[in-house]
Amino acid sequence: MKKIGIIDSGIGGRGIKKEIKKLIPQAEIIYFADSKNFPYGTKEVEELNRILEKNISELISKGTEIIVLACNSATVTSINYLRERFNIPIVGVEPAIKMAAKNTKTKNIAVFATPITSKSEATDRLINEYCKDIIVYKIPFENLAGEIENNKIGVAGLGVTKIWENYKNKNIDVIVLGCTHYTLIKNQIQKIVGDQIELVDSNSAVAQQVKKVYDEINID
Ligand code: DGL
Repeated sequence: MKKIGIIDSGIGGRGIKKEIKKLIPQAEIIYFADSKNFPYGTKEVEELNRILEKNISELISKGTEIIVLACNSATVTSINYLRERFNIPIVGVEPAIKMAAKNTKTKNIAVFATPITSKSEATDRLINEYCKDIIVYKIPFENLAGEIENNKIGVAGLGVTKIWENYKNKNIDVIVLGCTHYTLIKNQIQKIVGDQIELVDSNSAVAQQVKKVYDEINID
């Protein structure tokens, strides 16, 4: 079996899927878009744990040998819980705060994320670890993932423009796209915030990690 199961609440994980396909073209990928339970980013931890446990069991019953949580919200809330319950590798995605901290020159960065990711301990741990001399603006978006999911790209853009008004004079030079859905409209966000700001995400880092695990468990 050579199956990788990718889970997101909807279309957000497609960016990660694309990167995995580039690195491991021979792998069979099952993409689980859990639109029935969309959104993940505003749910309570216990509910998300239960949903993800069920989804992973389903993927395992289809022969999946590696799970990718292609969702920051799911990862920051549930990955430890899930790793205790399943003994196949589970790779997750966290906001690229380490990369932003490395790349910022102005020492001001922003993290665009869902409410659950914004307030999570995992996000704070990354900030405490990598951003000692950096000001970090955590910016939670209530509906942005939903607008992207429902292809309301114009509305999504208006929402980002409105919120960015409050931050555009804060000397921010790197923005972390801490929700996989946001990476799907990266070009549009770039237009709104301007070319001088770097947008970073974890999509390719996650794919590299998946490749490492895939090679380690030698399932070819
Ligand atoms: N794609 C998910 C993430 O990376 C969030 C979307 C949702 O709220 O369900 O956080």
